[in-house]
Amino acid sequence: MTASILAGKTYTIRTFGCQMNLHDSERVSGLLDSLGAYEAAGPADADIVIFMTCCVREAADTRLYGQVSSCKSLPDPPSGRRVIAVGGCIAQRDGEGLLKNLDNVDVIFGTHSIAHVGDLIAQVFEAGGHAVRTNEREETDATSMPWHRATTYHAWVPIMTGCNNFCSYCIVPYVRGREKSRQTNQILDEVTGLVRKGVREITLLGQNVNSYGRDLFGEPRFADLLREVGATGIERISFTSSHPKDLLPETIDAMAEIPAVMPHLHLAVQSGSSRVLKRMNRHYTREDYLSLIRAVRERIPDIALTTDIIVGFPGETEEDFEETLTLAREARFAQAFTFIYSKRAGTPAAKIDDPTPREHILDRFNRLVSVIEDTAYAFNQGASGSTMPVLIEGTSKKDAMKLMGKSPWNQTVLCPLPDGANPVEYIGKMVDIAIDTTKTFYLSGELVGGPR
Ligand code: SAM
Ligand code: SF4
Ligand code: F3S
Repeated sequence: MTASILAGKTYTIRTFGCQMNLHDSERVSGLLDSLGAYEAAGPADADIVIFMTCCVREAADTRLYGQVSSCKSLPDPPSGRRVIAVGGCIAQRDGEGLLKNLDNVDVIFGTHSIAHVGDLIAQVFEAGGHAVRTNEREETDATSMPWHRATTYHAWVPIMTGCNNFCSYCIVPYVRGREKSRQTNQILDEVTGLVRKGVREITLLGQNVNSYGRDLFGEPRFADLLREVGATGIERISFTSSHPKDLLPETIDAMAEIPAVMPHLHLAVQSGSSRVLKRMNRHYTREDYLSLIRAVRERIPDIALTTDIIVGFPGETEEDFEETLTLAREARFAQAFTFIYSKRAGTPAAKIDDPTPREHILDRFNRLVSVIEDTAYAFNQGASGSTMPVLIEGTSKKDAMKLMGKSPWNQTVLCPLPDGANPVEYIGKMVDIAIDTTKTFYLSGELVGGPR
């Protein structure tokens, strides 16, 4: 039934939030392709418009309402009937309740129900009304579904879903469920298949990859997994995210010893104050974090260390915040995602009142951004005069005559496109670039030799 009604229909997916959602969108897209639907240029040409949503901060929530409502003013699609579907974390959180604020939504599917999206959409095309599915236990998980990858050279590979950590500010464990690791064989088969298809780089995904395998083997096995993935022949391996409390010495050893593992570690610190970390339920202190990164630097001296930091957690004092600034300087972060705390209903931190004026929090945020800009610039300066392998992803958004790619340290690197060359000859290829300019957010230089 599903296949026949969706064949020939057009769809578009708008994705918010983290890499988990990006990957889930690739699975939704793969499923719709397998049912005979195909991707439209945008919402105006699409019979099916899907929003993959995020609720980690309030801003993401608000953006969704605007975008879904704006679909009402779109012209009719090719088939004459447009189905609007909302998936991802807001769908999981609100379920049918979403219809109260968004009266033009037809399908709601939760984070565990991706495998059913084709049936749910078909049901609305056939019978009208609404279709809602947000069950927490499903037999088919998204990782066993067909897959439509955004690029030919890079792939997101989920190794686990969910999170058991319950950081006191965070909604993720409530909308993604408990940690569930994929079987190692399944991951290795997938990576081997990707290598055969010419994929050069993979990113292993999980909310806390360091606890990979705890539910399968009774203890974390991320280091073993890295070694096995490293033996598949994949050229570049990165992973995200790592929780400091679970980063084991054997994982640091594996990172140092496996040539394909990139010298980049994303290790969210969240705050530099042990007092705040305790209230965040992070299970490490400032000193633990600093000694952990010293251990990483001993084994991998050139590591690019990146992080997430929250400013304005309820009750954060000026002294607490200054500890975050000193930690950021000491850690010499190569980049950081900085966030202003956003109250999430249902989390323990939402119950804590905070008298700190908004302008103080904004001022702290700006001071932190300025420290991160200094440390990021210092890190990039270290690349001056070196020649590095860069995986080309496309051209610069600002200048189509410049190739743009990623260094092993996850830096954005630009170089001029050779005269008469077509960028397509370079996309997904590795090139060497001799770096002559270092900025806070990117490096640039000259091509050395050709693509490979
Ligand atoms: N599991 C990952 C980890 O612990 O590194 C992070 C996942 S979360 C999707 C990404 C980041 O969002 C977190 O590291 C945190 O800095 C930020 N975040 C989560 N909840 C937040 C909130 N309520 N307000 C502001 N930022 C938040
Ligand atoms: Fe959220 Fe903490 Fe889990 Fe990361 S580890 S997803 S911040 S609860
Ligand atoms: Fe957002 Fe859900 Fe990811 S809340 S950050 S899309 S896990």
